[in-house]
Amino acid sequence: MENNDTGSSEIRPIPRISIQAFCETDKVQGSIQSFLEDRRLVRAHVKNHMGGIRAAIEFYENAPTPNVVIVETALEGEALFEHLNNLANVCDVDTRVIVIGSRNDVELYRKLIKFGVSEYIVAPLNTMDLIHTIGEMFTAPDAEPLGRSIAFLSTKGGSGSSTLAQNVAWSISEIFDNEVVLADFDLAGGTVGLNFNQDPAQTIADCLFSDQKIDETFLDRILSKCTDHLHLLTAPASLERTYDLKVEAADQLIETAQASVPYFVADLPCQWTPWVEHIVTSADEVVICATPDLAGLRNAKNYYDNLIQKRQTDTKPRLVLNQLGRSKETEIKPAAFEEALEAKLDLVIPFEPALFGTAMNNGLMVGESNPKAPVVNDFKSLAALVTGRVEVSALEKKGLKLPFLDMLTRPKKAS
Ligand SMILES: Nc1ncnc2c1ncn2[C@@H]1O[C@H](COP(=O)(O)OP(=O)(O)O)[C@@H](O)[C@H]1O
Ligand SMILES: [Mg+2]
Repeated sequence: MENNDTGSSEIRPIPRISIQAFCETDKVQGSIQSFLEDRRLVRAHVKNHMGGIRAAIEFYENAPTPNVVIVETALEGEALFEHLNNLANVCDVDTRVIVIGSRNDVELYRKLIKFGVSEYIVAPLNTMDLIHTIGEMFTAPDAEPLGRSIAFLSTKGGSGSSTLAQNVAWSISEIFDNEVVLADFDLAGGTVGLNFNQDPAQTIADCLFSDQKIDETFLDRILSKCTDHLHLLTAPASLERTYDLKVEAADQLIETAQASVPYFVADLPCQWTPWVEHIVTSADEVVICATPDLAGLRNAKNYYDNLIQKRQTDTKPRLVLNQLGRSKETEIKPAAFEEALEAKLDLVIPFEPALFGTAMNNGLMVGESNPKAPVVNDFKSLAALVTGRVEVSALEKKGLKLPFLDMLTRPKKAS
């Protein structure tokens, strides 16, 4: 409801978020149209629908929710809150809701904010006010960071953690229609470029070894767009120089990415350096990938115990056992693995060399190369788990089984 008297030149660009509006009147729809055409919105994905709050409720029953939902409504009193409640039930917990109404009423404003609505704006809608309001939600000093960081760690070279990081990052971008940055921290030999068949001129090294501060504008120049929602920071994969990474550089990159993109996926090399330790200690989610052999077990236990200790207030590392069946006679069975680690495996992936090899040789993710392969669902389930976004109905609509469904409940917004 604020009437911000902000000079338009001071308004900062909106980060790489998704915004969907559901208007009721042509006037508000016109304002949303000029909003989405504004230069400060170039990074964001905006969709403009009609139908107001009712259309939004129907829409999100079968679709993933964006970062921001804007609903125009003429409803008042109990009917308004009833509809907002229904909307909350189909929205992800992180989704911010902006209501556009016609009543300039402080009591109503307070009630809506208490209910969990992020902002109430009285029509007519001023485009600059809307840009300012949304910008503040994500960039104000006390705002929750927009992005979630997910680090993938291998317990032994060749376990498959890069394969996992890449397929999960791709799945997040495909199922949730949300922006993802996938960063290849294996500077000398990383495979993100190869596996997505991309060879951008700029690499993660241009970012990590730059004298300039890594800010959003800098990141924009370095990121390479792979698909509509997936952006890559590939490795130089060259030995022309050596790479001695500084913790501060890695930190600055992740911090900037988290301020401007909903998901940051780090594909880490199999090393235990100060910066790898820093990334896995501070990431929102860590996925440990191991193979079912003795070294895999020993190292997985070391990493798991170490991270449990260091991340006492965070989510536990996720455990993936990969390439099961590669050496049937000698391999360690999943139950024995769980017993030794005193933890449940989140995912077990079979050894399927033809499936993974074909995808790799064609520069495709498994979901592109063989969409019907059962492992594609496993990647999607892991994507749902590490993002905390369980778009159950959307996944079900796409005919997916969710092996983790019983562990996951769809978070509800405040009511
Ligand atoms: N489940 C699997 N079945 C068969 N091959 C796999 C599987 N997972 C990964 N691979 C293959 O193993 C190789 C090493 O994988 P990679 O992800 O680079 O490992 P890491 O990053 O842990 O060193 C790649 O060629 C990849 O295609
Ligand atoms: Mg790797």
